[in-house]
Amino acid sequence: MSNQNIETAKEKFQKLIEEQLNRIEQMKQGSDWLDFSSLKPIIIGSCWGDGIGEVISKHAQYVLTEVLKKESEEGKIQIKDIAGLTIENRAKHNAAIPEDVLEELKACHVILKGPTTTPQAGDEWPNIESANVAMRRYLDLFANVRPVKIPQEGVDWTFFRENTEGAYVLGSKGMDIGEDLSFDFKVITEQGAERIIRMAFEYAKKNGKQRVTVVTKSNVVKTTDGRFSRVAKRIAQEYKGIECDEWYIDIMTAKLIDPARRKDFQVMVMPNLYGDILTDEAAQLQGGVGTAGSANIGKRWAMFEAIHGSAPRMVKEGRAQYADPSSMIRACAMLMRHIGYVAEAEKVEMALEVCGQFEKKVTITGRDSGATGQEYTDYLLSWVNNSQLKSRWEEEVNKLASSSA
Ligand code: IPM
Ligand code: MG
Repeated sequence: MSNQNIETAKEKFQKLIEEQLNRIEQMKQGSDWLDFSSLKPIIIGSCWGDGIGEVISKHAQYVLTEVLKKESEEGKIQIKDIAGLTIENRAKHNAAIPEDVLEELKACHVILKGPTTTPQAGDEWPNIESANVAMRRYLDLFANVRPVKIPQEGVDWTFFRENTEGAYVLGSKGMDIGEDLSFDFKVITEQGAERIIRMAFEYAKKNGKQRVTVVTKSNVVKTTDGRFSRVAKRIAQEYKGIECDEWYIDIMTAKLIDPARRKDFQVMVMPNLYGDILTDEAAQLQGGVGTAGSANIGKRWAMFEAIHGSAPRMVKEGRAQYADPSSMIRACAMLMRHIGYVAEAEKVEMALEVCGQFEKKVTITGRDSGATGQEYTDYLLSWVNNSQLKSRWEEEVNKLASSSA
């Protein structure tokens, strides 16, 4: 190993430290939350993504357009297509998000984003950074909120995944030093941990939850996870009625598949990579990653998406039209709730449960043995527009409550 290699690495590391210290300064300055009630129109950017992303986001956009038709006609909302986030265009510009696309995104208030392909070394695309990760960082979307429900078991989880730090923020800034040595970095800041943990506690308080579970590996990853854990304990002091416990990520993944214990978890908050892993597991328990939506929330912008990727395998095998659009439709509901259309969001959420968990008249299998995404979307919209929706949903929920009592 030459001294030159070490010197170069030191310089790179110094730059990374400076960048993070600057980020801390910005977080300290803070900014106000965007007030949607004062905006007319609220501009919703719709990025279709690629792979199955293109197919399922069109279904989701259709639901959004149908449900908010009146608001759109009255000029309260405006939906703008943003076409340039495909892997082809990102590869052409050799950028995670090309400059002009980023400007288009910033001109919106909220974004509905379809899955986008994240290249990996050795595949057909240049190994550029993930568009998701870049968007979360550029727009400072620090909270990744992922609800998962299994009504028949009484499971109602909300995951708060830190979205701008952890193993992700510098994931594409690691370095190879000499022939044989590779480094990646993980970052946790006091301010970054505090804002996501506080959001989880505030959510618990507002929604009558009695428990917030912090997930780390602070017994081994002592410095960064250690800080996350310490910040959580400090903040928990301010929320007296809410129990706060800490679980390590390994046992947490085990407990999620323990039917006797899993319904006891309510709100979970964790660093980035643990949240990535745990929420896929949770979504699978709910019915598959295709059923889960995700809100990426910052003070100025918010982006709503599926929790899964663009499924290139499905596209290659000619199955894109059979992809489950529920994840993106759930993302739509989260978007509507975020911008103040709570009743509309509830309708879509109830319809998702009636169609996906209770009635199941049309089912998706991801193959031609099941319905197409379009057929499923039409089924779902027929329930959204059905005046019996609420009573049907309540009837099913009451049935579950009495069978578990
Ligand atoms: C998710 C996805 C992304 C992530 C990928 C596509 C980069 O898995 O949103 O969970 O790892 O965050
Ligand atoms: Mg993931």
